[in-house]
Amino acid sequence: MCHCSKEAEPKTKEDLEMEKVFAQYAGQKGALIPVLQKSQDIYGYLPAEALKEISKRLQIPLSKIYGVVTFYAQFHLKPRGRNIIRVCLGTACHVRGGAKIVEAVTNAIGIKDGETTEDLRYTFESVACLGACGLAPVMMVNDDTHGRLTPDMVKGLLEQYE
Ligand code: FES
Repeated sequence: MCHCSKEAEPKTKEDLEMEKVFAQYAGQKGALIPVLQKSQDIYGYLPAEALKEISKRLQIPLSKIYGVVTFYAQFHLKPRGRNIIRVCLGTACHVRGGAKIVEAVTNAIGIKDGETTEDLRYTFESVACLGACGLAPVMMVNDDTHGRLTPDMVKGLLEQYE
């Protein structure tokens, strides 16, 4: 016997989490940024469907939401890798060969600055300064700082991050 039900599509765990967020911020002014932040925490990025739902629930035009999301660097419209690689190209790191580290990352994992590997293992970004100029050239992977790098150290270091 068929036990299919004709109920609406089951919601994902993430959608259910978002319901709590919408309930928490219902009717509040200035809710957009915190709701976007929580949505990104829940999904790992801001999927188009999630933005549509936020637009509907907060009654804010989708175009305005995209304006906000693209203005702030903290928001991401595409999935991010499990490991975030940040290579510094600030002055101190630039002078000490930061560009060679960028090249070494690309050679090691096959993606360029701003890209994410297909298996979502890595996202690679260059940044202006990581605040560790004394260790130049510097790369961070997640919360780990790796300083005084040479290009031949990069591949081995990245392999440690699953
Ligand atoms: S310039 Fe690279 S850490 Fe500051």
